[in-house]
Amino acid sequence: MARRKIIYYDEVTSTNEIAKLLVSRQVEDRTVVVAETQTAGKGRLGKVWDSPKGVGIWLSIILYPPIETSEMSQLGLVASIAMCNTLQKITDQHIKIKWPNDLVLHDKKIAGILCELVNIGDKKSAIIIGIGVNVNTSRFAESLPYASSLYLECGVTFDRKQIIEEFVQEFENMYDKFLEYKTFKVFLDEYKNLCLNLGKVAYIKTKDKQYTANVISINSNGNLVVKDEEEKVFEIFSGEVSIRGIYGYT
Ligand code: BTN
Repeated sequence: MARRKIIYYDEVTSTNEIAKLLVSRQVEDRTVVVAETQTAGKGRLGKVWDSPKGVGIWLSIILYPPIETSEMSQLGLVASIAMCNTLQKITDQHIKIKWPNDLVLHDKKIAGILCELVNIGDKKSAIIIGIGVNVNTSRFAESLPYASSLYLECGVTFDRKQIIEEFVQEFENMYDKFLEYKTFKVFLDEYKNLCLNLGKVAYIKTKDKQYTANVISINSNGNLVVKDEEEKVFEIFSGEVSIRGIYGYT
């Protein structure tokens, strides 16, 4: 059983926003906020995250890790491994990670993670790891051709509460290990084994430019190492980047 406090809401704007409010009230480390539906669910890169009632997992974890703010996004990668492991176990499917932290099944996105930092003074930050999993969703808008759910991909419905409980436990164990070693390096091999971008060509889109590059590695900070068409090797940070396969989502 999970040791941590899980707060359930029926309807919220966004569990990440509730989490921010709870941080301002100095809520306990590792508190988890879960909602049945979100009226203003947020995705990465300013996108909207559809969060219909009763069919998905919409949750946020609040952490105050004693590490540099610049390294906190590594915890999003840790959470993606934890959710991937949980869903693999429950569905018996080969779920993969599309860097940095989308979960993919049959080339479709079934879950995403939005990490947000909150300044808590004294040069310290809290991190809110917001996770959305499309569990039993039966249809998606036409504007979301790469989105799917566990139900649509597996043909059966899943127990959302079981997934939440198993994920929280899995993440707890991994977070304890992260705090012990204070580096993502201890999860790098596991992450690489789950990551579907390695060795592939990616279409990379930042605020200023778009280009294709070969993904050659992931380094110990969790950044993507790519080689562009002029053979220049460089690192990509997850912040403001969208990456796709050249022919589709992956
Ligand atoms: C993505 O774009 O892939 C990230 C999606 C993150 C969605 C989750 S749902 C729970 C939490 N609350 C939000 O408003 N967003 C995250």
